[in-house]
Amino acid sequence: MQAQSDNAKMLGNYVPIYVMLPLGVVTVDSVFEGNEKLTIQLQVLHAAGVDGVMVDVWWGIIESKGPKQYDWTAYRNLFQLIQECGLKLQAIMSFHQCGGNVGDVVTIPIPDWVLIVGDSDPDIFYTNRRGTRNKEYLTIGVDNEPLFHGRTAVQIYSDYMKSFRENMSDFLKSELIIDIEVGLGPAGELRYPSYPQNQGWEFPGIGEFQCYDKYLKADFKKAAANARHPEWELPDDAGEYNNTPDSTVFFRSNGTYMTEKGKFFLTWYSNNLLNHGDQILVEANKAFLGCKVKLAAKVSGIHWWYKAENHAAELTAGYYNLYDRDGAEAKSGPQKLVQQVLSGGWKEHIEVAGENALSRYDSTAYNQILLNARPNGINKEGRPKLKMYGVTYLRLSDDLLKETNFDIFKKFVGKMHADQDYYAYLEKYNHSIGPLEQSKPKIPIDVLLEATKPTEPFPWDEETDMKVDGSPAN
Ligand SMILES: *[C@@H]1O[C@H](CO)[C@@H](O)[C@H](O)[C@H]1NC(C)=O
Ligand SMILES: *[C@@H]1O[C@H](CO)[C@@H](O)[C@H](O)[C@H]1NC(C)=O
Repeated sequence: MQAQSDNAKMLGNYVPIYVMLPLGVVTVDSVFEGNEKLTIQLQVLHAAGVDGVMVDVWWGIIESKGPKQYDWTAYRNLFQLIQECGLKLQAIMSFHQCGGNVGDVVTIPIPDWVLIVGDSDPDIFYTNRRGTRNKEYLTIGVDNEPLFHGRTAVQIYSDYMKSFRENMSDFLKSELIIDIEVGLGPAGELRYPSYPQNQGWEFPGIGEFQCYDKYLKADFKKAAANARHPEWELPDDAGEYNNTPDSTVFFRSNGTYMTEKGKFFLTWYSNNLLNHGDQILVEANKAFLGCKVKLAAKVSGIHWWYKAENHAAELTAGYYNLYDRDGAEAKSGPQKLVQQVLSGGWKEHIEVAGENALSRYDSTAYNQILLNARPNGINKEGRPKLKMYGVTYLRLSDDLLKETNFDIFKKFVGKMHADQDYYAYLEKYNHSIGPLEQSKPKIPIDVLLEATKPTEPFPWDEETDMKVDGSPAN
């Protein structure tokens, strides 16, 4: 049928757009006043063709009263309103503190009863070499330590997601909730908190490794002993937050990072992060098995020093990304980085969605999003270029809704949708999730010392054996 093929064509070009709700939409005291203002704002978004909204579901609010004492009431009221306004919902399981990062105007700490455990055992928090603790997120060193009233950190995250699924089962069934983004670290991102502003980090400092709590220290000593190098210690030559790579022994040219010991450490450091992500995503998959949602994880766009050989800022964050040596003049490469992430994801048959970092209302900024999300033209094989799975715009505000700003935003939404009606996309969206496929092998510990051969970079224009219509990979 003509209508059907038209429809298929349309779907191929359509990139849904979501808007992040304001921080503090549910207060730290777990209050949501279904206020008139938000209702009107949501209606305006819906009328503009926006597909849905994204919202943080804060651990520090929901489980604040005590272990397993979840209070979902305020979020249920919010979700009800979103549903009534005809929008879809992406919910973030936010296990980190709100506050201390760019744009955080609200402070929501992790639950008190967890912080109290930290009073007597401060090593439950990420720690830098000088012993500074970071209370934004529990160190991955305690993922499997039963320190929290008998539960491990991973069990806490797992129980939380199961309770969410149970309590929100009606909103899952009605397909209000379409995505579950699983928080995996500071700012919700799978990374170490290597560049905390509240400890004095400033752009473009290289940041610091955060693995000096006693749990990660012990883990490293064990790994080093297994690799027959019991004498190896965690780095003490990697500098401080605001150093440049060249001013440190670790990152300078032919520095520690190029030695066997350095490579061993970096592999251990990033493998731990991958294991952490895997473990929690497996729990998320169990919690939401059978639900018609996509599971998502967020990675950070660390573009500073991306074009330096050492990739220092990425390494301290846990991204062992040494292979793509551009040697270009500028040392910051956001556009290249986005392309690497997209290509890397597609290569693994993972959908990739995007989010902007700073609020901008000008067409130049929107065009940059469009360029990445819905590239025009064809690749070398003559097929249309791949597109993003969706884009979340940060964030809903009075400024965004000002007439001049919102007029440009509406045009942007139209372009993201390839000038089509928004519902064209939705019937295609939902299908139940099945069991999770585990990550491809990390570098096994016994071949660590030989694992130095670069993999070929994956060029932007040659991802041709992927699905070209951008449809979900499963
Ligand atoms: C959801 O949680 C609220 C409060 O946290 C509770 O009153 C309600 O009974 C729960 N509903 C379900 C279906 O679990
Ligand atoms: C780094 O090491 C390589 C190989 O040993 C050597 O050829 C090169 O000159 C060294 N570069 C610097 C800046 O020391």
